[in-house]
Amino acid sequence: MVLQQMLIFLGYPIWWGDLPMGVYTFLERENLVGKTIIPFCTHEGSGLGNTERFIAESTKAKVLPGLEMRGRKAQNSQTEAKAEMEEWIKKSLADIK
Ligand SMILES: Cc1cc2nc3c(=O)[nH]c(=O)nc-3n(C[C@H](O)[C@H](O)[C@H](O)COP(=O)(O)O)c2cc1C
Repeated sequence: MVLQQMLIFLGYPIWWGDLPMGVYTFLERENLVGKTIIPFCTHEGSGLGNTERFIAESTKAKVLPGLEMRGRKAQNSQTEAKAEMEEWIKKSLADIK
């Protein structure tokens, strides 16, 4: 698969403070040099950890500050979670203009 998009929102759960291996496989299969990635994750305490840096190192893409959200909030407080995501998406898009 060749991603045509220049801007990629990349979502993943935090596993052992890191990206799940399947996400690394995706990143390694794509040529993402010169693209912009905006990460977002669910977690239960670790936040984004160092995943923004890991993504930058494994892709050579430009990685913008990400959003972290408790998995419990995404699961159980969906209205609040959606509002937070929408606000963050708006801000992220405004920041790259
Ligand atoms: C194998 C595994 C490892 C995990 N490691 C972490 C961790 O290191 N830090 C953390 O905050 N949450 C950790 N979690 C919690 C997940 O990040 C959380 O369950 C997930 O983001 C919620 O999405 P899901 O509903 O798709 O599981 C782990 C979960 C699993 C299953």
